[in-house]
This record gives sequence, structure tokens and C-alpha cells, in this order.
Amino acid sequence: MSNQSPPVRLAVIGCGGMATVHMKHAAELDGVEISAACDTSAESLQKATEDNNCPGFDNHNELLKADVCDAVLIATPHYAHTTIGIDALKAGKHVLVEKPISVHKADCERLIAAHTDKSLVFAAMFNQRTDPYYIKLKQMIDGGELGGLVRVSWIITNWFRTDTYYAGGGWRATWEGEGGGVLLNQCPHQLDLMQWLFGMPTRVAGFCGIGKRHDIEVEDQVTAYLEYENGATGTFITSTGEAPGTNRLEVAGELGRVIIEDDKFTFIKNAIPAEEFLRISREAFAKPETETIDIPIDNHGGKHKQVLENFIEAVRTGADLIAPAEEGIHSVELGNAMLYASLTGTPVEMPLDAQAYEQKLMQLIAESTHVKKTDVSGQRDLSNSF
Ligand SMILES: NC(=O)c1ccc[n+]([C@@H]2O[C@H](COP(=O)([O-])OP(=O)(O)OC[C@H]3O[C@@H](n4cnc5c(N)ncnc54)[C@H](O)[C@@H]3O)[C@@H](O)[C@H]2O)c1
Repeated sequence: MSNQSPPVRLAVIGCGGMATVHMKHAAELDGVEISAACDTSAESLQKATEDNNCPGFDNHNELLKADVCDAVLIATPHYAHTTIGIDALKAGKHVLVEKPISVHKADCERLIAAHTDKSLVFAAMFNQRTDPYYIKLKQMIDGGELGGLVRVSWIITNWFRTDTYYAGGGWRATWEGEGGGVLLNQCPHQLDLMQWLFGMPTRVAGFCGIGKRHDIEVEDQVTAYLEYENGATGTFITSTGEAPGTNRLEVAGELGRVIIEDDKFTFIKNAIPAEEFLRISREAFAKPETETIDIPIDNHGGKHKQVLENFIEAVRTGADLIAPAEEGIHSVELGNAMLYASLTGTPVEMPLDAQAYEQKLMQLIAESTHVKKTDVSGQRDLSNSF
């Protein structure tokens, strides 16, 4: 298909905070027009239809029945990603789904199984894959510059959220409405990058604080320990209640260590691989010589607009996707495993038993006694959230 082909008619399903950003980006891009909006809230729907001068639907099935779109962007609360995604794929629509692709692994499998028509583009909004820092790290890992992975440690505690944030949506921070906490809402980006960069671990232990810092019933604090097939280990630490928080990724390989923190990318390179040095040195306390290299990278940050543009490009020309939705199952499985290990007090041997996790989640929903506080009067400027 050439660039002369008509614009992709994109319908947005779920027209809240994130979708409003996506709709603004779509208006700035060539090759796409917002052709319809769908929201169960009359207020959000009215705003979206007025802003985009397009028809509105309060039910996604009505939208899918009407011939108003070629593609849909799903930006609803998480459980509906699965149900609406399946309906949209079955209706022959290209789908771009927000993260996480589903709440739990079994739902991911159901959603992915609906992608039978491979002519349909099915992508996920993992915008941090466009961040030049992580792209550079991936190039170094894939190119062998770090050598075999020894250890990865990610401390991602700058996802600070106030009680006002959690009160700002009835679905938020409940097992039934959202399906989880920081692992499902904020961390899908880092969990996706973990699997994108290092592959999946073979074993996961997790220690989660449930409503540790907020009056919520889901996890807002996590310390997880991971083991990889080659013997490498990992830690993943996150919180939405710690300030000042940090975002520090440290990757140790046989050939050196990368640190990404505070908009700096540092590579401390070993002159001799660590494993070789510790065998050949005749000195008890010697260390490999190192060279510290600050790698200049500007423009930290993942671009939502770039993922949307890539999705439209894939629909129009068959371009490769930045983030195929099928890959979204891994971040969900990782987060589920951390939570499951914590809830059961037992490390998870991967792959996670999808049915066992789903049952556990259903049990949490059934046994919930927490009274959710909702107050939408607080300010929600999403530009401070990414
Ligand atoms: N990629 C990112 O950086 C990023 C950032 C923020 C949010 N998100 C994701 O975007 C999604 C939405 O988050 P948000 O912050 O915009 O939430 P939100 O509450 O502001 O918006 C959700 C909207 O969906 C509507 N809705 C609920 N059920 C629906 C249904 N069945 N059909 C149609 N509309 C329905 C609600 O009325 C609401 O307007 C979530 O998946 C979230 O994780 C992604």
C-alpha cells in the first residue's frame, strides 16, 4: 500500500486520560484519522467525539458492527483489554492495545489465540521500547559487548502515586476492577523491557507489600528475585509509595557493567572478562582493570507517538512492529509470577501455571472486603505520569 492510500480509520475505545494523549498524537500524524470513539462514560464520550468531530458509541460491539473503522486502539481499564481485543480481532479489525495486554496469563492466552488472521496488525503500547537508552543497551547485549549476563538489578521506585491518584477511578487498585497494583499498572513497561533485554527467568521469588503505603487492596511495593537459565540472577524492586524514588538499572556481564540512572548511561568495561580473570590471577585481591565510558544519549523517554505511528505504518505498509502484542504475555507472566510467589510464599518455577494464577486472582476478588474510596475531583495531568 502506498502513502497515497486513504488514511487508516482508527476508533478509540476507552477515551480517558491516556486515550486523550493518543488522540492528540493521531491528529499530528499522517495516514490516520480518528474515525470513531467509544466509552461507557457519557462525559468522556462526549468530549472525545467533540474533540475529534467523530461519531460516538457507548458499547464497543455497536462500534464494531458499524462500518466506521479499520483499526481500534484499546485504552480501557485492564480486564476489558482481553474481551474487547478478542471482539475486535474477530470483527476483522487491526488492534493496538494499551499495556498490560491482559490482567493475567490465561487471559493473555485467550486474547492471543483470537489473532488467527495474521493479516491483521496486533500491537501493544510498550512505548519504552523506543527509549534510546534501552535500545542502546539491547544493541550492546545482542552484540555481545557485555558478554554473558551475570546479574541484573532494577530499582524502579519513581512511580510515586498519591491517594488522590488511586481514588481517581473506581476501577483502580482493586482486584476486581484493575486486577493488581504496581506490577500491573506502572511496571508493565519495565517488566516488558526485562524480558526484551534479558529473556525470561526460570525461577521467580517475590515479596509484595499489599496496600503497604496506600489505603488499597493490591500490591504497592515489590521486591522480586529472579534466576536465569545461564545462572544469572536478578532483582526487581518497585514501589508507588517511596519518595524520592529512583530509576536505576544495573546490568553486570562478564565484560563489564552498565548503569542507567539519572539520564546517564555508563559502561564500566573490564579489560579481561571477570570469569577468566578470577581463574588466572595469582593475586588474592586483584580485580580486572576497567575503563569507564560515559555513553552520551539524549532524549530519555519512551514515545507513545512513535508506537502509534509504527502501528499505522504496519497497517498501511506491513512495516515490522516495535511491540507485537503477542510479546505482551511475558511482562504479564513476570508480574503474575512475582505476585503469586509472594501470595503463596513459594518461588515460582517458570513457566507460571496460568490456571493456578487465575484461580488465585478469583479467590482474591471473592474474598475482598476492602471498601474502595473514589473521588474523581483530584487533578490528573498525565504528562507527569510517564
Ligand atoms: N502506555 C502508557 O504509558 C500508559 C499510561 C497511562 C495509562 N495507560 C493505560 O491506558 C489504559 C487506560 O488508562 P487511563 O489512565 O486512561 O484510565 P482512565 O480511567 O482515565 O480511562 C479509561 C476509560 O475507559 C472507559 N471505559 C471503561 N470500560 C469501558 C468499556 N468497556 N468500553 C469502553 N470504554 C470503557 C472509562 O469510562 C474511561 O473513560 C490502561 O490500560 C492503562 O494501563 C498506559
